Amino acid sequence: MTAPLRHDGALSGSTDAELAARERELERRYRVACGSNLDLDLTRGKPSADQLALSDALDGILDGDYTASDGTDTRNYGGLRGIPEARTLGAEIMGLRPDQVIAAGNSSLTLMYLTVDTALRYGLNGAAWDGALSRGARGASPSQERPILALCPVPGYDRHFTLTEALGIGMTPIGMTDDGPDMDRVEALVESDPSVKCLWCVPKYSNPTGCIYSPDTVRRIARLPQRASEGFLVLWDNAYAVHDFDFPPPPLENVLECAAEAGTEDGVVLFGSTSKISFAGAGVGFVAGSPNTLDRLEARMSVMTVGHDKVNQLRHARFLGGRVREQMRAHAARVRPKFEAIERILSESLGGLGVAVWTRPRGGYFVTVNTLPHLASEVVSLAGAAGVTLTPAGATHPGGHDPEDHIIRLAPTFAADDEVEAATEILALCIELASVRKLLAKSRAK
Ligand SMILES: Cc1ncc(COP(=O)(O)O)c(C=O)c1O
Repeated sequence: MTAPLRHDGALSGSTDAELAARERELERRYRVACGSNLDLDLTRGKPSADQLALSDALDGILDGDYTASDGTDTRNYGGLRGIPEARTLGAEIMGLRPDQVIAAGNSSLTLMYLTVDTALRYGLNGAAWDGALSRGARGASPSQERPILALCPVPGYDRHFTLTEALGIGMTPIGMTDDGPDMDRVEALVESDPSVKCLWCVPKYSNPTGCIYSPDTVRRIARLPQRASEGFLVLWDNAYAVHDFDFPPPPLENVLECAAEAGTEDGVVLFGSTSKISFAGAGVGFVAGSPNTLDRLEARMSVMTVGHDKVNQLRHARFLGGRVREQMRAHAARVRPKFEAIERILSESLGGLGVAVWTRPRGGYFVTVNTLPHLASEVVSLAGAAGVTLTPAGATHPGGHDPEDHIIRLAPTFAADDEVEAATEILALCIELASVRKLLAKSRAK
């Protein structure tokens, strides 16, 4: 994926006459596509109805037995850390110990907001990031520029960026490699700039490149809080921890163990959820970390709620406890063919042309396609006119701006198999057409 596009591929080696002939042929096919009244969508990073149906047994599973393993009546208030079996489920998903996990409400994104907001205004790993606010100078509004920065690997998850921006925190993009964020740059920034206060991470099947952070990257990330200014946090959003296509799945280094070895446990906060294991938006969210982290987050939670939905926690523990792998195999059987179709069609249509590279993830929810520079928006717009909706180019970057305009995120899970195939064929056609036009224009400008 990170290999640069080869500009010596078949297309750029073509003569103008060959390119012009190819352009005419692609335009003919494009006109046919535009006349076909397609209505396809590769923007939706959510489970298909088939995948959701895998968890329909959640409904009614309690059958009147609402009592958790520790005797808690889950129908009542209380228990902010979650019932024991839900914490065990979170630990099973995140590869941790139950005592390191809080099982909370229906969304890990909410827990990320809570974490960043807590660090900003109250302090999580030491003093509040926003010293002025915590000292009581409440004149500042979130929109005011604060000397606080988040490191944001790009391409990345747009909601991390929205959350960060909403809290008035600046964002510094960090390039992604196949091993995770560019760690030389991350370390240099963390060491040289005290306003850098956190690093967003999606360590397994990263959204959207699909890479898995290498063991060396994980160890370097775990050591960051040692080298950074006070209060620095690694925000470890392991949303796709078990969303594998291959079994046994590829491993991910345990960042909390690495942090324990480095003495930085308070600087690493982990997130996960069952959103794409059971029901998206009606699952259980988890946050994990050191005893200090859990204490501080629980204290903040207690201001916001008298207790999370423990009935749903119990449903999930009874349904998924001890059989997460089995559930994920069933998801993989539905999701993997869509990714394989994308790979096959892009390889057949664009392989060797030197006009695009794309990721081949072995899990997760996304494929990233890199076009030639400054063509992604053009491709998205061509595809849109032919009835294929793609995520707007730039959505994978802070502020919605990809300076090179070359990244397109594909989210194939929600669409039916034949829709994914049809949409990918149109995408490949649009990439080639836009590229041929660009190469021709460049050649004619000489
Ligand atoms: C990286 C990442 N984190 C978090 C989420 C949302 O998680 P939740 O449903 O637990 O809030 C998503 C959803 O697409 C995601 O891709």
